Order: sequence, then C-alpha cells, then structure tokens
Amino acid sequence: MADTAEIRVDGQVIELPLIVGSEDERAIDIRRLRNQTGLISFDPGFANTGACRSAITFIDGDKGILRYRGFPIEELAEKSTFLEVAYLLIYGNLPSAQEFEAFESSITRHTMIHEDFKRFFGALPKDAHPMAVCSAAVGALSTFYPDSLDPRDPRHIEISVHRLIAKMITVASYAYKHSIGQPFMYPQNDRSYVGNLLHMLFGTPCETYEADPVVEKAIDLLLILHADHEQNCSTSTVRLVGSTQVNLFSAISAGINALWGPSHGGANQEVIEMLESIHEEGMSAKQFVERAKAGDPGARLTGFGHRVYKNFDPRMKIIKKACFDVLEKLGVRTKLLEIAVELEEMALKDEYFVERRLYPNVDFYSGVIYSAIGTPPTMFTPFFALGRLPGWIAHWMEMHTDPDFKIGRPRQIYTGPALSPYVPIADR
Ligand code: ACO
Repeated sequence: MADTAEIRVDGQVIELPLIVGSEDERAIDIRRLRNQTGLISFDPGFANTGACRSAITFIDGDKGILRYRGFPIEELAEKSTFLEVAYLLIYGNLPSAQEFEAFESSITRHTMIHEDFKRFFGALPKDAHPMAVCSAAVGALSTFYPDSLDPRDPRHIEISVHRLIAKMITVASYAYKHSIGQPFMYPQNDRSYVGNLLHMLFGTPCETYEADPVVEKAIDLLLILHADHEQNCSTSTVRLVGSTQVNLFSAISAGINALWGPSHGGANQEVIEMLESIHEEGMSAKQFVERAKAGDPGARLTGFGHRVYKNFDPRMKIIKKACFDVLEKLGVRTKLLEIAVELEEMALKDEYFVERRLYPNVDFYSGVIYSAIGTPPTMFTPFFALGRLPGWIAHWMEMHTDPDFKIGRPRQIYTGPALSPYVPIADR
C-alpha cells in the first residue's frame, strides 16, 4: 500500500506522507501543506481531521467497535468497575490488586471538599442547571490548590487527577442538594465510589441511606460506558483549552460546558423530555417519527444519530439490556420505556433513518434508567460528566507528553469585507 499521497496544485505536485495507526487507520499528514503550497485544509466540524495520535480509545464506527486501551467495551461492562476503568484509561494498563487498592483509597480520601467551598453553591440560584454549577465549581476548585496546578509537574498532575475524580461526585451531589434545599452530606469512606455518590445525592442527615445494589451496579455500568469516546466534542475541548498549558481544573470545566449541549451529552436529558412529551400529548411513535422526518425543530429524534457510529452504537446495546434488567429487578413499570422501544423500532425500519444511517446512540436509553432510580432529568448530564471525567483526564495527560504537542489554533478562510477605509461617525 502507498505510504505517500500526492496533491496537484497550480501545476505543482506535492508529496505528503501517510500515517498509519495500530488498527490500520490511515491519514494524510498535511503538516507541510501550507509551507509548501500556501494552502490550508478546510474541514468544518473536523469530520475528516485527525487532531492527534492517541493510544487511549479505538472506535470503528462502521463495525460498532469500541475499546478502551484495547479492551472491548462489552468485556469491561461485564467484568470491570468504573474506578478500575478510570485507572485503565488514565495510566494505560489494568491495575494490580495493590495498585488498585492504593488508587481507590486515595480517591476515597479526597472526596471531601474544603468547608468554605460549600458557600459557593449557596451563592448560585436554586434553579441553576447542575451542569452550569458543576462547570463553575470545577473551575473554582483550582482556587483552592494554587500550589499544585502546574501541568508539567508529574506530582502536581497526580494530586490534581486524584482530587478531581474524588471531588467530582461531591460537587455534582451538592449541585443537586442545593437545587432541592437539602443539607449537603459528607462523603463516608466506608462506601464505594458510586455508593458515596448515591449517599450524597439521596441521603439526608435524618436517616442512613442504603444504596440498592441493583442501582449501584447500574450507575457503575453507565459510568463505564461513558468513560471515554476518543476525540468527541467535549474531549477535544479539554484538549484545546488544555493546550494553552492551563491547569487541569480549568480544562475540565470547559469540557463540562461542551458536554452540556443537547447535540452532545445534554441529549440524555432531552431524550427523557421528548419521551415525556410524547406520552403527555398522547402522540403515537409513528406520528413523532413523521414530525422528526419533516424537520420540525421541536421534534428532532434526540438520542438518534452519531458522527462516528453509522451502523450501531455498541454502548446503546448494553444500556438497552441493562435498562430492561434494572426496571425488572426494581419492579418499576414505565410507559417511557415502551415509547422508547416503539420509537426505536419505528425509526429503524423507516427509510429516512435507514438512508442516513441514523441509529439510537448511548443517550437513547440511559435516561430511562436514571429516571427509574429517582434521578431528576437535570442530573442526567452531570452523571455523563462523572463518567467522562477519566477520559478527559487521560486525553489531557496524553496531550502533555505527545512529542507533536502544540497549542491548538485552527485557521480559517476569511469571507468578510475587503480593506475598507475608516469613516468618522459624523460622516456616516
Ligand atoms: N433526527 C432526525 N434527523 C437527524 C437526526 C435525528 N436525531 N440526526 C441526524 N439527522 C439527519 C440530519 O438532519 C441530516 O439530514 P440531511 O442529510 O437530510 O440534512 C443527516 O441526518 C445527517 O446529520 P448531521 O447532523 O449532518 O450529522 P452529524 O454527524 O453532524 O450530527 C448528531 C450528529 C449531532 C449526533 C446528530 O445526529 C443529532 O443531532 N442527533 C440528536 C442529538 C443526540 O442524540 N446527540 C447525542 C449524540 S451522542 C453523544 O454525544 C453522547
């Protein structure tokens, strides 16, 4: 196979090297393009642009393959835990029993936030969206640790990474507690990571909260499935912001904002709202699909479509099964799941969706599980952020050790006015 590509421009032929990844994905290395031709590449939405080499996650969108550090998502979902997956993504290998114990213990012992920081939540309106609160709070965490923010110092990185994973569950829980006017719960070190999250979310000082193991397992699974997805919008945001050498907290805060958008992580909240409105309006799945096809802006089939998956989203298959299992084990019956299944079946055989290769994505069924365990829709996307955190961190760390590391700075094709003389205000 060729190892170079040729571009013919203005009668001149330029040879550009090809780069091959470990799964035989190929790219044209255009780094010399502008120097040699004066031209730049044009790729809105970066749909054809490889921004870096990465050894973290492999996706084959046509075959529906997703692997973290080489391990299939299906196997991790069945056999691993979220904290172990976090370790795998961040450090590149599965931990030994001793390594895992040290990691888990360090995370557990960093979950408490500075007592003064609690007042931060009180300063925000009660109806603030928890994603806005989480992003602001994670950014503000940097103000408490000015002596360990250097992204070039391995010890600073280690401390910040552990602090962030640990405190993120506390921050997300406090965002929720503030919104419903309940007291903040301290983390308890004898609970698991997810157990602590559920305790801080749903517990009160009045009685001990015992997390249902079915619920704990389901949340752990959802966090695993969301843990990384290579160069998605929020991860690319973390990389871009992080490329300025800003501290980890600031880069992750930016990633949380990117994730909030309904085209990305915010879709999980929108899916449940869509299912609820279909239910409330007594609409049939067929009617809604017809409206979505007609391009009705209020009726986009949220939870469908993906930039990379054009066959099926492997995470969706696992979540759909978990959804049925959890609801059955909890003895919960919900009309929303029936509507979701009907919508999925309807869309999968509809020419519009088949032609465009639109399939249900990770967010299509996750909200049904979150709802069934009593989570309000505004907390769905913060759950996604908790899951995606180790992925963001792994990419931020990988970027800093990449020999090709550069500040991110795309170019543009200018289409504005030509050189214009300034006209004083009196003469306009
Ligand atoms: N419902 C109806 N039509 C859709 C949908 C949908 N959910 N998704 C895409 N289409 C249509 C588009 O209108 C377009 O049609 P056209 O060719 O006739 O103009 C075609 O399918 C291609 O869609 P694009 O928007 O160009 O695809 P892109 O890769 O840019 O967008 C995205 C992907 C943003 C995920 C899109 O499918 C979408 O908006 N889905 C709904 C939101 C959603 O579920 N987001 C979560 C994604 S997963 C995640 O981030 C965790």
